[in-house]
Amino acid sequence: MKGIILSGGAGTRLHPVTLPMSKQLLPVYDKPMIYYPLSVLMLAGITDILIISTPRDLPQFEHLFGDGSTLGLNITYGVQETPRGLADAFLIGADHIGDDPAALILGDNVFHGPRFSEVLQENARDVDGCVLFGYPVNDPSRYGVGVTDGAGRLVSLEEKPENPRSNMAITGLYFYDNEVVDIAKNIQPSPRGELEITDVNRVYLDRGRAKLVTLGRGFAWLDTGTHDSLLQAGQYVQTVEQRQGLRIACLEEIALRRGLIDADACHAIGAGLGKTAYGQYLMTIAAEHRTEALACAS
Ligand code: G1P
Repeated sequence: MKGIILSGGAGTRLHPVTLPMSKQLLPVYDKPMIYYPLSVLMLAGITDILIISTPRDLPQFEHLFGDGSTLGLNITYGVQETPRGLADAFLIGADHIGDDPAALILGDNVFHGPRFSEVLQENARDVDGCVLFGYPVNDPSRYGVGVTDGAGRLVSLEEKPENPRSNMAITGLYFYDNEVVDIAKNIQPSPRGELEITDVNRVYLDRGRAKLVTLGRGFAWLDTGTHDSLLQAGQYVQTVEQRQGLRIACLEEIALRRGLIDADACHAIGAGLGKTAYGQYLMTIAAEHRTEALACAS
């Protein structure tokens, strides 16, 4: 499965903070926002990833990740010249997707929860149609809203409805079979001239091939769209990380645990980050990993 992170947009709701830089590079506590969606794709087992952003911001992402090889990934980049909607990602990413299924994640979506990696990998396998991920929220009118038949099949989908039929928001993580590229090419732009992801998902819904996986209690899907929610997301990460001594969305740790890099590479990245707590953490987990590997071998 190929991955796409859509990190475009002008971030107008966060002005003036986002006047000089991409929203998706703002910090969520101790790391750039885009680390969180990238960690989700990595946890799903995806290593071929296209990052799409604006002509202004794309060089910053390239500076941050390069070709992805330090994380054992293959990262490439695509430009979205103007904000043409989320489904435009499949037109920009058509070559990247090729004949494979595709996962799209929005660059400002922060997920954290138990057994997430297993949920992702189970649902990334043999995608037939599309898989959407729902999360109960207090304010569903701000999102795509879904209703299921109780067996996980999506039966209704509306974009930002005034009178939502459920409290189940559709998160910004989507898995598709390869037909998504053709579907995205054939949907009509909205009155705002945008290719809406909900219109793509509605094609799958009409074909009876849209699944909704609920991320329920004990799970966090955090908003980063306003100054307050961005700060709250950072405080959530700070609270959990300080309590557990474990980091959320630590890309090098995921790469190490998935066998994409070895302990020496993880240590070297940590050492390169000097005396930062993040760098120290990488060196500690590299050492732990070596000890575990020795214990397994003996
Ligand atoms: C988009 C989608 C919406 C989804 C949301 C998740 O909305 O159109 O269906 O619920 O992302 O983040 P936007 O945030 O672009 O308004």
